[in-house]
Amino acid sequence: MIELQDIKKGFADKEILKGVSAVMESGKVNLIIGASGSGKTVMMKCIVGLMGVGSGKILYDNQDFTAMDDKEKKVVRQEIGMLFQGSALFDSMTVEQNVMFPLDMFGKGTLRDKKKRVAECLERVQLMEAAKKFPAEISGGMKKRVGIARAIVLNPKYLFCDEPNSGLDPQTSLLIDKLITELTKEYNITTVINTHDMNTVMESGDHIVYMYQGQKQWEGSNKDIIFSKDQKLNDFIFASEFLREAKEMRQLDIFKDNKWRDQLKNKEGNASGK
Ligand SMILES: Nc1ncnc2c1ncn2[C@@H]1O[C@H](COP(=O)(O)OP(=O)(O)OP(=O)(O)O)[C@@H](O)[C@H]1O
Ligand SMILES: [Mg+2]
Repeated sequence: MIELQDIKKGFADKEILKGVSAVMESGKVNLIIGASGSGKTVMMKCIVGLMGVGSGKILYDNQDFTAMDDKEKKVVRQEIGMLFQGSALFDSMTVEQNVMFPLDMFGKGTLRDKKKRVAECLERVQLMEAAKKFPAEISGGMKKRVGIARAIVLNPKYLFCDEPNSGLDPQTSLLIDKLITELTKEYNITTVINTHDMNTVMESGDHIVYMYQGQKQWEGSNKDIIFSKDQKLNDFIFASEFLREAKEMRQLDIFKDNKWRDQLKNKEGNASGK
């Protein structure tokens, strides 16, 4: 579990994060959504320590990361896997060598153990046949899967993915989402994903934090979104007339079903966890 307590971050005279508090739970895919420029990437960089925070606390399983010295932070970092936007693979290394890289940097054990672990991870993302290929020889979706294999090779407790679906078609995106969700549940990882992708929101949104101009505007699950009356969230998610109508139809559909009605009576109050 990762807990953010009143995180503030600015650059020069510009305040970007204006006091964000949230809990990212383990075994869950926690999504951070919001318009371009709302501060998602800055927030992720602050959480993993690539950027310092202005003020506030970040707790990794109740340990105060913000108060740690570099040596202590390094220990936590070794438990973090990160999938960067655009995959960020090393072009001069094969798929296999890319996945091996974190093991060479931090891993213990013999070369044989490391090769075995690389093979396991490539197997897990169904890329064994591409092991000897270079990034330039594989598709965008395959590159993301290599990025995922590299991110999980050290058995992370925490997994961060910044826009894992950017540039992918909807079906490949869903496969990537499914893979990340499966890994999250399988290894009880605390996963945090920055995304614009509405398919991801609707498919994998156990827990969604909606950022608006540097603040947490709304928090809830994909099901809560259907019933949310938060205007800013609705303008963001249901940006088109078509989707707004679809939302209304879905609400009517669900309300026809009695078993939902009671469950959802107080949903909006619970969902807008500000
Ligand atoms: N290193 C930096 N120095 C100065 N300003 C920065 C820096 N990094 C980000 N910003 C500013 O912080 C704001 C939020 O940027 P951020 O990249 O977090 O947005 P985002 O929500 O991830 O957007 P996108 O969806 O486009 O990726 C932007 O106004 C950006 O210009
Ligand atoms: Mg971003």
